[in-house]
Amino acid sequence: MWWLLIPGAGIVFLLVILIRSSRERKMLENTCYEVPVRDLPEELSDTELLFLTDLHDEEFGEDNLKLLKALQEYPADAVLIGGDMLTVKENHSGDMRALRAVLEAFSGKLPVYYGLGNHETRMRENPEDYPGWYERFLALIREYNVILLDDSSAYLTKNGRSIRISGFTLDRKYYRKGHTEKLDVSAVTSALGPSRDMPEIVLLHSPMYGETLSAWGADLVLSGHFHGGTVRLPLLGGVMTPQLQFFSPLAKGRKEYGDTTEIVSGGLGTHSIRIRFMNKPDIVRVRLVRKEDK
Ligand SMILES: [Fe+2]
Repeated sequence: MWWLLIPGAGIVFLLVILIRSSRERKMLENTCYEVPVRDLPEELSDTELLFLTDLHDEEFGEDNLKLLKALQEYPADAVLIGGDMLTVKENHSGDMRALRAVLEAFSGKLPVYYGLGNHETRMRENPEDYPGWYERFLALIREYNVILLDDSSAYLTKNGRSIRISGFTLDRKYYRKGHTEKLDVSAVTSALGPSRDMPEIVLLHSPMYGETLSAWGADLVLSGHFHGGTVRLPLLGGVMTPQLQFFSPLAKGRKEYGDTTEIVSGGLGTHSIRIRFMNKPDIVRVRLVRKEDK
């Protein structure tokens, strides 16, 4: 009868994950990265960015006050959003309340740049399933003067010098489960033009294409989408991504491709698989430093 211990241990482990996850989903942590950027002008050294992604309508505390308080603790020059701040699926209200609270918190204080994730593009591509959702999203973006980066770029200027921030929008074929669609540099160039002789930051929702963006000329790529791999285990990392990759090294953290750094946030929320284990909701802070100073 000893063999009964094996499924028994499995059930106990599952229960531990579920109980811990229900608490952990409402906790917050911040991950800080220092990113050396080649030829970063002295005037832009120590630029601080706050990177938020994959909120998926999650709220932290009453009126989201816990999240808003945490965000206000961090000094930053700009807020960058990596997409999927909403959950666009059947049986979701689309009230955008959690996103509104975040945008309102920064309104008039910091510039906010917003790149699109697969959930935002889903509501745009399927208006028959989500009538009026994308229009309401755009109205919210306009209401809070957010800079929408949909295959487009804008500039963050500090001390008279600028960084180009771009959002490259991946269409749905890049998000298919069990399949990795190749992304060519030419697709990035036709959306954003060639990279320029200035610091280049790209918001790219999926972390799968850091190498392509490096070939294009990005200095920093900010991604999310993989939710840290849902359950994180010591030494093994994230167990499963929403695209059903197992133990992906891209689930969360930092990768280098030549002079390019890619940072993958564990994200703030969940949707279909509402589990986070050893994987607290993640507020990412990035400090840009001059490469030659390192
Ligand atoms: Fe996503």
